[in-house]
Amino acid sequence: MPPTSDLTATRVLLNPAALSSSYLPKDLPHRDKEVRILSSVAERYAITSITPPAILIKGRPGVGKTAVSLNSTLGRFDSERLRVIHVNCRKYPSPNTVVRIISRGVGGPFVPERGLSMGELILFLEEGLAAGATPTALILDEINYLRDPADLIYALLRIHETSKVRVPPMLILISREWIPEFLFERSIWSFFSIRLNLKPYTRNQLYDIIRYRAREALDPRSYDDNLLMYIAEAASVSGDARQAIRLLYRAALLAEASDSSEITLEHVRIAEAEDSPVMDRAAVDQLSVHEKLILLAAAKRLKEKQAMWLRMGELEGAYREICEVYGVPPFKHTAVWRRVKNLSSEGYISTRRSGEGMRGQTTLISINGPLERLIQIIEGDLDTNLGKWPEDWS
Ligand SMILES: Nc1ncnc2c1ncn2[C@@H]1O[C@H](COP(=O)(O)OP(=O)(O)O)[C@@H](O)[C@H]1O
Ligand SMILES: [Mg+2]
Repeated sequence: MPPTSDLTATRVLLNPAALSSSYLPKDLPHRDKEVRILSSVAERYAITSITPPAILIKGRPGVGKTAVSLNSTLGRFDSERLRVIHVNCRKYPSPNTVVRIISRGVGGPFVPERGLSMGELILFLEEGLAAGATPTALILDEINYLRDPADLIYALLRIHETSKVRVPPMLILISREWIPEFLFERSIWSFFSIRLNLKPYTRNQLYDIIRYRAREALDPRSYDDNLLMYIAEAASVSGDARQAIRLLYRAALLAEASDSSEITLEHVRIAEAEDSPVMDRAAVDQLSVHEKLILLAAAKRLKEKQAMWLRMGELEGAYREICEVYGVPPFKHTAVWRRVKNLSSEGYISTRRSGEGMRGQTTLISINGPLERLIQIIEGDLDTNLGKWPEDWS
């Protein structure tokens, strides 16, 4: 008997942890400036123990807020030089829990689970922080979810003025793109002299990010630049690095599951479909015959080319061929174009104008979803329906 299958199974993910959500990468491409600013504040604070400026980081999901905050603190210092306490307020929205986590982190007193007023909680907080002399970076993440935030934050900002705390914490708050109202109060806002606004990543930035993560996680023979570019393109709509990494990870899992030593665009497309509204039989059923023919032509041509975009002219050529196969007279350019626009506004396809590097301006067309499945669905549909009701051909 040959050896059991897990010995021979194809492995694409050599180091899956490098694509997990809790992995802290050593470098953060395109966030060097932010990491440099924060780590220099942390460095000075770790040396002098003098109150550092409070820091506010804001931005949409997946722009690297958490990664930047941890990379400049936890990733750079021994715990004796700088202790890092990271609290996710989405997970722990109650001030009581936040204070308990801080107190536990600095070796302070045990904080009872409930029944404490805000004033009592703050006393526990002060006592906790007074217990230690190690510089402490306190990262309150997803601050938008914290209940009753104002009193707690205010107390943290002024803790050394009113208590025995010798080494006040370095406070880093992380917020979504909308900053919670209480922070704008003058008595609080003025403390935040360092404010970082992280912008969504562009396609090229996402490409650099996943290229770097792919190198850490995957067998180098399992992917190529084209694949990474496709993922970057897909995630550039939101500018979310988490989405890009998740797509790469899921596509790699799918490759392994289908015993393929290469991750293909089709694997990414399937992973993408899990993320987005699925193109199913019912969705295809809504379309007119020529819309189905156009979609089928686009899917087949994209699959053939192993590409993410198709020129309008290529699509029209492929559409005319498909019409011939099904014995349907093809529409002229304007009528095809109108249907392409419909398909795009309903989310079946994406379109964009061709950019530099291509001669002349043309429209480019892409399909977000697994092509193979789409082709099967449309072909099945056309085989059963086409020719039955010719008056429906519009
Ligand atoms: N510049 C970058 N380089 C490498 N990985 C990144 C970068 N920015 C974000 N990531 C990764 O993307 C994911 C989301 O980043 P995260 O910091 O959690 O985003 P946010 O906190 O803004 O929602 C994490 O896995 C993180 O490691
Ligand atoms: Mg985060």
